[in-house]
Amino acid sequence: MRYNLWMRILSIETSCDETAVCLLEAEGTFEHDFQFRILGNALLSQAALHTEYGGVFPNLAKREHAKNLVPLLEEALRQAGELSGSEVPTDPTALLPLKQLLEREEELFKQLLAHSLRYRAPAIDAIAVTTGPGLEPALWVGINFAKALSHLWSAGRRIPIVAVNHMEGHVVMPMMENVTPSSGKMREFDFPLLTLLISGGHTELVLSKTFGAYQLIGETRDDAAGEAFDKVARLLDLPYPGGPEISRLAALAREKGIQGDFTFTRPMMKEDSFDFSFSGLKTAVRNLVEKMKPLTDDMVMKIAREFEDTVADVLIDKTLRAADEYGAKTLIVGGGVSANTRIRELLAQRVHEDGAVEQLLTTSPQLATDNAVMIGLAGYFHALKGQYSAPEDIAAKGNLKLETAV
Ligand code: KG4
Ligand code: ZN
Repeated sequence: MRYNLWMRILSIETSCDETAVCLLEAEGTFEHDFQFRILGNALLSQAALHTEYGGVFPNLAKREHAKNLVPLLEEALRQAGELSGSEVPTDPTALLPLKQLLEREEELFKQLLAHSLRYRAPAIDAIAVTTGPGLEPALWVGINFAKALSHLWSAGRRIPIVAVNHMEGHVVMPMMENVTPSSGKMREFDFPLLTLLISGGHTELVLSKTFGAYQLIGETRDDAAGEAFDKVARLLDLPYPGGPEISRLAALAREKGIQGDFTFTRPMMKEDSFDFSFSGLKTAVRNLVEKMKPLTDDMVMKIAREFEDTVADVLIDKTLRAADEYGAKTLIVGGGVSANTRIRELLAQRVHEDGAVEQLLTTSPQLATDNAVMIGLAGYFHALKGQYSAPEDIAAKGNLKLETAV
């Protein structure tokens, strides 16, 4: 079946410490005929600002999102050729609801007001916004911004809004192939599909028997994998976010042949359940750090290496056992921690040796961490089915679960 209807979606992501706006054009169903073009894509990471707290500080994140959304919107629209001057002056009374919607974000309101007086509405069909899971104050900024834009750009009819589950974004992103800065399409793969979601807030194994169907089969009982990387980095006096830094030092240790004479227990690795636990591992690192203080550079490298190997072993072992139990033909790894080279390489090797899973799908490290492209893609699949939400029903849900909704 051919579709000639391209839908244009503006997507907004503010669930954690990345502010991102993307304008994409997509065609096809939530099937293998799907393809898309990225018309504009703008992202700003606040990571450097949160370094001094050793993690994300919610109110700082919220303030930064509010400050950066309009500049990022304008950047995405400029790339798309959709930032053009307004010929019709905006009726100031029409801006009143905007003031109400953004009453807690005064700076954002002022910036949006200035934007609306200068630029016309872009040609878009829908707005997709992350509504959870994530930090609620941060999520609210994006949601209120989406509502304000939907109102601002209405011409007789509000621009409809799609509420997107951030984790669904992490699942669909690796489904895409040939992703260039400007386009991509759905890969060919078979179900059942097993997804290992590893991010700053989540560690989950999700089974899908078809597109858009999600069944949670395992999750962390305490810390998420990314959280473990971040907390261990803090114990080692390394900057936030800890994942890339630990990974860099672990790689250096392997390259130089530096290895500790200690090992960490692989938590829950041999247990039957598909759940994870990482807080004991963090404690083991803390105890070792206490014992060895002050840490030499060599010791930091040894710990980084053994910690990364421990996390990789547990994640990979459980994932392959789950894949075997559920007869998964395709495996996806998504979320920020899937940017990790060691985890990718070891998983690819094990999948190859095992031979049961047909395909392992990952996305580029840039699209593995938070971005608005994945939110636009997940949003499109819901928009196609008319799954829009009335603005008054859209609220931030910090603990939103990934449910079968398409
Ligand atoms: O998906 P994501 O960008 O944000 C959330 O939804 O949480 O994931 C962020 C997490 C952080 O904990 C960060 O340390 C981790 O992903 N991360 C990594 C790597 N790059 C980012 N962890 C291990 N190795 C990496 N290369
Ligand atoms: Zn994420």
